Amino acid sequence: MATSANTRPAAVARDLARLDERLSAKPAAHLKVNGLSIGYSTLRGRFHAVEDVSFEVRAGTNLGLVGESGCGKSTVVKALMGLLPEFTALSGEALLDGENILGLSDAELEPIRWNRISLITQSAMNSLDPVYCIGDQICEAILAHEKVSKAVAWARAEEMFALVGLPAERLYEFPHQFSGGMRSVRSSPWRWRSTPACCWPTSRPPRSTRSCNRRSCRASAASTSTCAVR
Ligand SMILES: Nc1ncnc2c1ncn2[C@@H]1O[C@H](COP(=O)(O)OP(=O)(O)O)[C@@H](O)[C@H]1O
Ligand SMILES: [Mg+2]
Repeated sequence: MATSANTRPAAVARDLARLDERLSAKPAAHLKVNGLSIGYSTLRGRFHAVEDVSFEVRAGTNLGLVGESGCGKSTVVKALMGLLPEFTALSGEALLDGENILGLSDAELEPIRWNRISLITQSAMNSLDPVYCIGDQICEAILAHEKVSKAVAWARAEEMFALVGLPAERLYEFPHQFSGGMRSVRSSPWRWRSTPACCWPTSRPPRSTRSCNRRSCRASAASTSTCAVR
């Protein structure tokens, strides 16, 4: 199945070009979070992890949420992605292009999640299945959102790897054969090129930005612990 740009069948190259065109025509998203509060349900009662957080990410811009460990950065992002545990209390709103996505069901989030808003986890290994090769897992994600053949999805995966300097052959490898950084990289081009208009790499911030008041995430345009990227 390995192809290169030169050896690709014409039909695959044509469909790939159409897919590229469609995806690059997608506009960047605008995200506005207003008064977001989140309370986890615990054995000892409600734990208010996030209180009254508001921020805005204008289309095409980046925003970093900076704060000490445990101040609620990931909780904010998980709320936006609909990934919080059941019975978590949510209030406020998160408008993605004007539509409130806070508290939507999985079915309602289906067209949005991984498509308009996405997440690159800190431990990318957790999001990879050890028994499938990396290429199959990227293709699976592409095929879930785009009506293209497996050959086109694979060709797109090759393109995304090329973008980050990884040879196409490595798509046949398994997650344990990738370094931690490469596993994240495997997520990144897919998330970025397959166009989530908003995407949240979660990682440790540089030391200089690791300071903030507990419980209140401070939004900053500086570098990131959690950030939204077009
Ligand atoms: N599932 C959960 N149930 C109860 N409390 C949680 C849960 N997940 C996270 N927390 C708590 O919420 C707070 C914020 O966590 P988190 O959003 O992961 O912080 P950060 O990403 O800023 O390090 C922490 O005090 C953490 O212990
Ligand atoms: Mg976190």
